[in-house]
Amino acid sequence: MSWYDLKGRDLISEVDWTKEEYDIAIKLTDHLKSMYYSGQPHPYLQYKTFAMMFFASSTRTRMSFETAMTQLGGHAQFISPKTLRLSLEDKPGAGETIKDTAKAMSRFCDGIGIRLLDDAINYYGHGDAVIRKFAEFADVPVINMASDINHPCQSLTDIYTIMEKLGDPKGKKIVITWAYSPWIRGRCSVQGTALIAAMYGMEVVIAHPPEYDLDPKVMDQCRKLASASGGSFEITNDMDKALDGATIVFPRNWYTGRRYEIGKDEELKIAQKYRDWRYTAERQKRLTNPGYLLHCMPVDRGNEVDPEVCDNDLSWIYDQAENRLHTQKAILTLTLGGRL
Ligand code: CP
Repeated sequence: MSWYDLKGRDLISEVDWTKEEYDIAIKLTDHLKSMYYSGQPHPYLQYKTFAMMFFASSTRTRMSFETAMTQLGGHAQFISPKTLRLSLEDKPGAGETIKDTAKAMSRFCDGIGIRLLDDAINYYGHGDAVIRKFAEFADVPVINMASDINHPCQSLTDIYTIMEKLGDPKGKKIVITWAYSPWIRGRCSVQGTALIAAMYGMEVVIAHPPEYDLDPKVMDQCRKLASASGGSFEITNDMDKALDGATIVFPRNWYTGRRYEIGKDEELKIAQKYRDWRYTAERQKRLTNPGYLLHCMPVDRGNEVDPEVCDNDLSWIYDQAENRLHTQKAILTLTLGGRL
């Protein structure tokens, strides 16, 4: 492990980088955030271009990456895949292949970001497979800007925010709980936060109704990371019990393992059985005092979380959103080659 090794590296799953490598990114984030708040230019990626393909919508990820490249002296190119000649079907007659698209894009840019999840995919794992195929053929780093499985840029931001607010996260209890929303959200953010929290030795508890098991492979990764870091990992179907004594809670909706077989309408019927799975001011009292709200946003106010809980002093959500900018500047600088 060294700073040098991060040049040219992809970041697709949280487990692609080691804790020591995230520590480097966190150290650089501190530096970049200091430069930002002291008004000092830091054009570490001058004349470099980061190409961003969004197959699904975004507020924070698009804006933070675009602003990041501006502040680093480079350029972020927003690409709506509908305007490309690419077809994800990757078969004769369908459109340009992933290989040719990745190879050609590599001649124009210094890094490629891809977001592919939700309605833009046909099965769970599809987004991850496509991003990995791009990475296989691209000659520049590929950064996952949210897939169906992982959201490493959000996860780094989450652990950075926790460390910025509380110092060493080791041994602190974080509860990632399913919460009702008709939005039928993906799993990447909750799975990603669980992975990074386990990697950093936190006491990680996942709470959800019985139908909402997360990806078993990711849960296994969490168990292994927790065991290696001296943290712990537990899954429960009891939200209230899970919240007891927690320092941090991340209440978020996610879909069942059958989302792409049964469709959104059936998903909604299942979700509606659990409308009382909402993070409220009353439930906040179960946490340590103080106990904090972490949320990747967008948050479904009034469903996932009561509005007053989003807005009180124990909510980190806007600082967390801002930190996407600072952590992604570190990821871009390290992977796209900030060094001389
Ligand atoms: N948290 C997050 O990825 O937000 P966006 O979907 O708005 O990018």
